[in-house]
Amino acid sequence: MKDAAPQTVYLADYTPFGYGVEDVHLTVRLDPGKTRVQSRIRFAPNPEAQDRDFFLHGEELTLLWAKIDGAAVTPQLSDQGLRCTVPDGPFIWEAEVEIAPESNTALEGLYMSNGMYCTQCEAEGFRKITFYPDRPDVMAVFTVRIEGPHPVLLSNGNPVDSGEGWAEWHDPWPKPAYLFALVAGDLVNHPDRFTTMSGKEVELNIWVRPGDEGKCAFGMQALKASMRWDEEVYGREYDLDIFNVVAVDDFNMGAMENKGLNIFNSAAVLASPETSTDANFERIEAIIAHEYFHNWTGNRITCRDWFQLCLKEGLTVYRDSEFTSDMRSAPVKRIGDVIDLRARQFPEDQGPLSHPVRPESFQEINNFYTATVYEKGAEVIGMLKRLVGDEVYAKALTLYFDRHDGQACTIEDWLKVFEDVTGRDLTQFKRWYSQSGTPHLQVAERFENGTFTLTFKQRTPPTPGQDEKLPQVLPIAVGLLSPSGDEVVPTTLLEMTEAEQSFDFGGLSERPVASVLRGFSAPVVLERAASRQERLFLLAHDTDPFNRWEANRALAQESLIASITGAEAGPDTAWLSALLEVVKNAAQDPAYRALLLGLPSQSELAQALHQRGVTPDPDSIHAAAEAHRQTRAELWQADLPMLARETEVTAPFRPDAEQAGKRALGSSLLAMQSRLDGGAAAQAQFDGADNMTAQLSALTSLITIGAADSALRAFEKQWRHDRLVMDKWFGVQIAYAPPAMAVEMAGLLTEHPAFDMKNPNRFRAVFGALAGNHAGFHRADGAGYDQLADWLIKLDAKNPQTAARMCSAFQTWRRYDADRQARMRAALTRIADTPGLSRDSTEMVTRMLG
Ligand code: PHE
Ligand code: ZN
Repeated sequence: MKDAAPQTVYLADYTPFGYGVEDVHLTVRLDPGKTRVQSRIRFAPNPEAQDRDFFLHGEELTLLWAKIDGAAVTPQLSDQGLRCTVPDGPFIWEAEVEIAPESNTALEGLYMSNGMYCTQCEAEGFRKITFYPDRPDVMAVFTVRIEGPHPVLLSNGNPVDSGEGWAEWHDPWPKPAYLFALVAGDLVNHPDRFTTMSGKEVELNIWVRPGDEGKCAFGMQALKASMRWDEEVYGREYDLDIFNVVAVDDFNMGAMENKGLNIFNSAAVLASPETSTDANFERIEAIIAHEYFHNWTGNRITCRDWFQLCLKEGLTVYRDSEFTSDMRSAPVKRIGDVIDLRARQFPEDQGPLSHPVRPESFQEINNFYTATVYEKGAEVIGMLKRLVGDEVYAKALTLYFDRHDGQACTIEDWLKVFEDVTGRDLTQFKRWYSQSGTPHLQVAERFENGTFTLTFKQRTPPTPGQDEKLPQVLPIAVGLLSPSGDEVVPTTLLEMTEAEQSFDFGGLSERPVASVLRGFSAPVVLERAASRQERLFLLAHDTDPFNRWEANRALAQESLIASITGAEAGPDTAWLSALLEVVKNAAQDPAYRALLLGLPSQSELAQALHQRGVTPDPDSIHAAAEAHRQTRAELWQADLPMLARETEVTAPFRPDAEQAGKRALGSSLLAMQSRLDGGAAAQAQFDGADNMTAQLSALTSLITIGAADSALRAFEKQWRHDRLVMDKWFGVQIAYAPPAMAVEMAGLLTEHPAFDMKNPNRFRAVFGALAGNHAGFHRADGAGYDQLADWLIKLDAKNPQTAARMCSAFQTWRRYDADRQARMRAALTRIADTPGLSRDSTEMVTRMLG
């Protein structure tokens, strides 16, 4: 953890390990302060490797003894691992180490959470459990014996045998150490079964702490739906007799795809109507699917090295997005994904942390589980599929599974499959993996003699380490509409490969209106000087649901920017009237209408201003957004009650897309209503709510208008026993606080008896919310920056991974005025200068300051 000089690892330096592992036997004797791990590993020289240096990773381990072929050896130890002289041929390595799970606050390796033992090994946590070649290209069959006085003892694979105080597990599928898992505790299960497409019976379990058994049914249903979907859509069947899911309260990420034993942050699996919002249900369904889909894309076919992380993550995110589109509404899912991409990936790719989808160097791999690797990585798969077509994509995936099952692969392997299936050369396409930054796409149009010409120019601004950019392959989906709103050219895919390129559409009797980048067919910043009239036309007539939404989004952004910069006194009321007509159309999906009511976030507006060369002022952005919402509510006043009635759900609560859509629209309307009635409707909804979606949206409406004191007290009293609901209580008070109060509110809440900095969910509830309160965090006096820096420094000493991730709240610092920049730079420098700062946070702040 506390290396003197952090080392940089390069993709170009990859060499295979000198030894292969035949099999691994582990015996783990559990004890909070003195857990003993005994290993027996059969090694054999790897014929593919030159280097015979026998180095095993190991960190924070006490070595008790080691033997080779039964004879005691004395390896050379360092704080990274050990080195030993070994025989020329195959040999057996045995060792015993001692570790202390109770004092592991980094939540990596073997640790304890509320009295239960659990592990987290991705990416490099197995080296904190025993000495091992902890790299994904070393794959082995594991047999694990667990000893401890716990009713439930779990590991990967199938159960072999068990007795009083012990259990043995065997995983027949060779796997890298990062997929190892072990769980022990006083847990209860929600059991079920699944019959696979070939008729095999699989036992399914969701394991939780006693008291949480009522919150498993939804996750189980999502798991079975995912298993069926992967069979039907990708032809992938489950491959063990049992599939276990465990919920833990203390977890750095969302969930982990350990073979046959997925471990979940309890926030990403536990659900009930009373305690979870519709958004929570949708996220849980997606994460269950994501981890399950990893069984093939990640586990059966894994990554050669951590630079290839997007091989499993981009593809698996893409697969879970297809699943959600099939289970729910495809356009709604797509719009949500683009909102998220712009909120999280674009700032990353346009700032100091920008890196390629496949990075070429790192100091700490944990810092590269990013929106770029995951979400941009998924966009790249989506583009590839758009370019080759659905059928060819399906063929390529079948070939990928056939050819690479059981292997640790690279992006080259992945692209070669597509080249072999299509006969295409994907050399240029591969730039999506190596070139960082968001391409900007300019569009110009011309109409002459019945021919409409679109001319595109692409340009990617320089990013750290990459000054020159080459043109990328851009799939641009385009449709043309006649001035009366008929579609004269249906969606057509243009394939742009040059820096500048034109495309003609002939045989047109009148000048059409172009709908460009339908479905957001490439992750670019579209620069199009469309007129307000044209955008209003597309909002009314575009047949592509994404682009109708996008036209409205652009109108919203233009209107807000005009008031921020003082170009207009208030919102564009003609547009707001047109939008109201669309929102009143009862034939439209309520979820889609709710999306039309969303405004660009204040951070997104700051980025848009910055891109136009205007220094964003967080206070004016906040004021303009508030004024906009107030005007809109007043303008639509007469229609709100009727619209609200339409969103009422009378049937019993179901977390499906249909009901969720109605509630989402209802929540937006309630927020508007609250600005007019002093919160009466919101208070009534809060008092009568029988589900968390209704209760929480009422609460946030009340906070926004400053009328939530009694509701917040009632909420706390009702939910103080439920950690996940209390995370919401902590978060909303800060996220929706008036900017001038956000820092004080966060400070106050850290004194609350239920604040626990060691629990990542709770820490994020408070400080993620602070960073998300744009004008509150960017307070002119720098108090937001100082407070976050103070807490990140404190957290770093306990949990470097979560601290480092949250440092990215500062990544946009160069957007702002000189005074704010200086204050953010000072906060970052203070973090950087902290004695003993982790490698994780050191790398993050250095890149941001660099
Ligand atoms: N591999 C996990 C996923 O995407 C994420 C993860 C990474 C979890 C590292 C824990 C630690 O599903
Ligand atoms: Zn994943």
